[in-house]
Amino acid sequence: MHNERILDIGTGEGGRYIEGDNPSVIRIGLDIEGWRLHFLKKYWVQVLPVLASAQNIPFSENSMDMIEIVLPTGRLLVPGLQNHYPNHYPGVDKEFASPNDFSCPNGWYSEFARVLKPGGDLLIVGDPFIDLSSVINHSSNIFKTVSANNISIEELASYDTESTMNLLRKYMEEFDDVAREEFKKGLTQIRMKSKKLL
Ligand SMILES: C[S@@+](CC[C@H](N)C(=O)[O-])C[C@H]1O[C@@H](n2cnc3c(N)ncnc32)[C@H](O)[C@@H]1O
Repeated sequence: MHNERILDIGTGEGGRYIEGDNPSVIRIGLDIEGWRLHFLKKYWVQVLPVLASAQNIPFSENSMDMIEIVLPTGRLLVPGLQNHYPNHYPGVDKEFASPNDFSCPNGWYSEFARVLKPGGDLLIVGDPFIDLSSVINHSSNIFKTVSANNISIEELASYDTESTMNLLRKYMEEFDDVAREEFKKGLTQIRMKSKKLL
């Protein structure tokens, strides 16, 4: 029997969403920061940690059933996946942006499509500032957008990960009124399918 393989990009220390996995799922957590994977190994023993960048995924063609990105940061959101209002995350967008990121003018969609099986799914759960039309436009030659829906702040809080709690703290303590109003709309979940044929 074939076990479904999910590649979680920017997995960080892991997240609540992992709990919902069927035991036959093989989950691989890819992240660029080793210290985060150290915590991942401690708390989510069933996830295979992989230290690598989304820009150069160390897996072969057609090897994954699904790729997901939950709360990607500015670093992950290269042109194409680029999001939000940089002013709200000045540290993230300017300090950590890697020059290499900008060598992918259309984002990393072609790399995602390479490792995905034909018809495989790409799931992006973006913060409320994600630029949905930018994501859809930059991916449209490789991915078909199947749905885009909203996740409420309450559901976000139930994820209970360091990044969701960090986001909620910013919302309560640091965001200005405009950002707070935007944030109240919740997260955006985008599901896409690779257009690659067999
Ligand atoms: C906001 S955290 C989200 C973590 C997790 N998905 C969650 O929901 O809690 C973003 C993660 O993306 C990782 N990251 C940033 N740039 C990356 C890249 N180029 N390749 C892989 N991971 C990256 C960061 O190290 C960080 O762990």
